Amino acid sequence: CGIIGITSLPNNLREPIGKVVRRCLERLEYRGYDSVGIAVIKNNYIEVRKGKGKISEVNSRLNFDGVDGTTAMGHTRWATHGKPSDDNSHPHTDCSGTVAVIHNGIISNFLELKEELIKKGHVFKSETDTEIVAHLIEEYLKLGYRPFDAFKAALSKLRGAYAFVVAIAQEPNRLYFARNTSPLVIGIGNGTNFVASDIPAFLEYTNTVIVLRDGEYGYIEPGKVYIERNGVPINIEERIRLISWTPEMASKEGYPHFMLKEIHEQPLAINSTLAGIEEGAFNKVVNAILDSRKILIIGAGTSYHAGLVGDYLLTSMLGLDTHTLISSEYRKYLNAVNDGDTVIAISQSGETIDTLVAVRAFKERGAKIIAISNVIDSAIPRESNYVLYTRAGPEIGVAATKTFTTQLTVLTILALKIGVATGKLTTNEYRSAMDMIGKIPGLLQNVITKTEGKVKALSEHMSKKQSAYYLGRGIGVPLSMEGALKLKEIAYIHAEAYPAGESKHGPIALVEENYPVVFSILDDDNADAMLGNVMEMKARDAYIIGLVPDKYVGKFRELLNVTLEMPSIDYRVAPVIYIVPMQLLAYYTAVARGYDPDKPRNLAKTVTVE
Ligand code: G6P
Repeated sequence: CGIIGITSLPNNLREPIGKVVRRCLERLEYRGYDSVGIAVIKNNYIEVRKGKGKISEVNSRLNFDGVDGTTAMGHTRWATHGKPSDDNSHPHTDCSGTVAVIHNGIISNFLELKEELIKKGHVFKSETDTEIVAHLIEEYLKLGYRPFDAFKAALSKLRGAYAFVVAIAQEPNRLYFARNTSPLVIGIGNGTNFVASDIPAFLEYTNTVIVLRDGEYGYIEPGKVYIERNGVPINIEERIRLISWTPEMASKEGYPHFMLKEIHEQPLAINSTLAGIEEGAFNKVVNAILDSRKILIIGAGTSYHAGLVGDYLLTSMLGLDTHTLISSEYRKYLNAVNDGDTVIAISQSGETIDTLVAVRAFKERGAKIIAISNVIDSAIPRESNYVLYTRAGPEIGVAATKTFTTQLTVLTILALKIGVATGKLTTNEYRSAMDMIGKIPGLLQNVITKTEGKVKALSEHMSKKQSAYYLGRGIGVPLSMEGALKLKEIAYIHAEAYPAGESKHGPIALVEENYPVVFSILDDDNADAMLGNVMEMKARDAYIIGLVPDKYVGKFRELLNVTLEMPSIDYRVAPVIYIVPMQLLAYYTAVARGYDPDKPRNLAKTVTVE
């Protein structure tokens, strides 16, 4: 879910506060978009407008833009407790309508709290866990608590993961907030302060931020930010950060969708990753890895696929004992991790709860944690021993694109540095590999220019299919997994990836005339075996799409229905380049099928529930 709270001096905003909230929410819509709502504090009462649907639909129905005031909050929802509906939309209010709450996360003890409150006469309007917080605060206010004390007393009753913003009508210039596991960031402006789930929400107004930590709570007023933890005030000055992201980075810049913009931005994003490489940070990470017997890599979704690519390099190139697992399956390895082993936790957002929970569990076992993330100061980097940032700029499209290719860039550089440190690579090999990495942005730009038109034409054909295979060998296997995930998550076409050699052991049973199969053929030792696999599919009249290095085009072209020519490059950097036409294929196929690629159904960009 996405949260925004704003408190401003009178006449400090150039437009009605409802409109400012709506615009901030649009920047958070990637976090959830099944329903939306706003609350504005008026003279001693709170006006709430909310409903099921996307922000633009609900705004045209309820006119958020027309609501004025100086203190307001907004929420865009990804349903957990209670289906998407008008009643279950946030903000939620108490019986008297003078306490309003928005929330991201799950309150695990909400049922028992709800029963207690019902016994005390509270009447609930929704099925959500969130609504109990408004009633709890109301209960303490009735007992004579001052608002901040009532807020704290309510917090002390809650278990689970949460980020809250709370408005209490008797304090019309103040918004309370609290963070436990779910992300929350303060934005400090001139006469206007913000609290939000993510920085892009308020980037148009300020780039001065404080990233809240677990267990912190407090309030914002137009000219004040107050934070405490366990009753002790936090020194705000020490925590203020200036973010180098610009508002343009979080806007579409003329592209029809964020996803297309972010695909095109990849050469730039990788340049920024390369420019931000801190030798000192990498050296520390390399030393930690050299000191450990085993390396685990964890991640969810696309970050897991990046982990598998990194695993391939560490295992096959360097012979390190590396295992990669989906974060939520971490328990399998809990017993296998020993003091000093390293865990590389990959998460673009740095907030995915599955990965965070695994990080905590491995840390407890004595493992050293290395985070690879795109968001500075986010939860996973903060709880890790070492951090490597990808510096791709904000990624708004739900389907990861530039954060994936920059994760791969960081992992490849890390593998090369370990290689030279262990003597597995000579200094010359290392240097020439690093030179090759420096060429990625240019190569990527060429691939986009050369393939985009062809991929767009292909997407028309793809859009009529129900199912597809993505096949590769070696490092091409995780690459294919990521290609298939992109098609599945935004074009809603069933797509599966397999090692090409495995395709004859089952998957090929589904292949009939015109069944689409996407082959990632790399310039590596597997090219001949791949030729055999392509022939097997050809013999079943499959519709074959091949990403082929230019030097093999002659060999493969006859067998392929569509040839996407790739540069002949070292297999170690091939995934960064090859994934791009597959991202474009998923994007254009989604558009051809009439879906919004930025907001795939049922998905959220940052999942902060387990
Ligand atoms: C969500 C997103 C995926 C993403 C995954 C991991 O499920 O929909 O696109 O890959 O989370 O996100 P992270 O921020 O940890 O990389």
